[in-house]
Amino acid sequence: MTQISFKGRDILSTEQFSREDILHVCEVAKSFEKVAQKQETSDIMKGCVMASLFYEPSTRTRLSFETAMKRLGGMVVTAASEDTSSLSKGETFYDTGKMVSAYADVVAMRHPKRGSVDELARGCSVPVINAGDGPGQHPTQALLDIYTIMKERGTVDGLTVCLAGDLKYGRTVHSLLMLLRHFSVKLVFASPAELRMPDEYKEYLRDKNVDFKEVDSLEEGIRGSDVLYMTRVQQERFEDRAEYERLKLAFVLDYSMLERCGGVTGSSAITIMHPLPRVGEISMDVDDLPGAAYFRQAANGVPIRMALLAFVTGRI
Ligand code: NCD
Repeated sequence: MTQISFKGRDILSTEQFSREDILHVCEVAKSFEKVAQKQETSDIMKGCVMASLFYEPSTRTRLSFETAMKRLGGMVVTAASEDTSSLSKGETFYDTGKMVSAYADVVAMRHPKRGSVDELARGCSVPVINAGDGPGQHPTQALLDIYTIMKERGTVDGLTVCLAGDLKYGRTVHSLLMLLRHFSVKLVFASPAELRMPDEYKEYLRDKNVDFKEVDSLEEGIRGSDVLYMTRVQQERFEDRAEYERLKLAFVLDYSMLERCGGVTGSSAITIMHPLPRVGEISMDVDDLPGAAYFRQAANGVPIRMALLAFVTGRI
């Protein structure tokens, strides 16, 4: 396998990753599993400070970044919210980037504005990792999603993957398809008509010769798929509240639907993923199925972010 150098690089988009890069990240994440699972300790990030800049709500992403850093012996400084930082006084992302370079060795940032993380990275002389820029990109989530598929199914090649729910605003599905295109997959996009995958991503996939189809029912998406990737309807991206209310539970997965589609047990059992949080689109009666992988998926965020932090800071 080609050895890729991530040292000093920003991680802003999944488009930066080749197939070899993805496999390499997953391999290194695997080597961190015991530390992530609290069975071993490590201090490879000793003396290293991560600035955790989360200007949009986050539970898993922020906690797993900070957990990854601390379990590898590093430290974390936090800007709790936009209201309590100088961005609220009108400071630019670029200037914030300049300044944070003096304090930290690496930055993890989330912000509701698309392109905001790229702008901060332009001013920043230490590596910046995009933890979600509005409806834009979420590359670390996409990497942990691929890692999860590999762990759950043994491989990504040869699978049919259904991305379902809010395909219009969901940044996780936009990032994920840019990694999936490196594998021989069939993609199915299942969404209500109003929340279809934007044309720019469909053009992108056509350009890369990726096999995909669109369906407008969840059941149709489930039948024949090996992996079902559910998403939340992204309330915060809607201008029209009534439109959100109408669509929020358009696609709900429950046990009886899975049973009807033959996806519950046996060789046709489907792997069910979700970046979380779920807000009603996966019923709790699905949680105990062997294929329900979403909480394992959330745990996989720690070893993946360990690998990325260690790569960009040059510690491995
Ligand atoms: C996702 C996000 O923030 O984009 N969550 C996450 O990072 N685990 C998905 C979402 O909020 O719906």
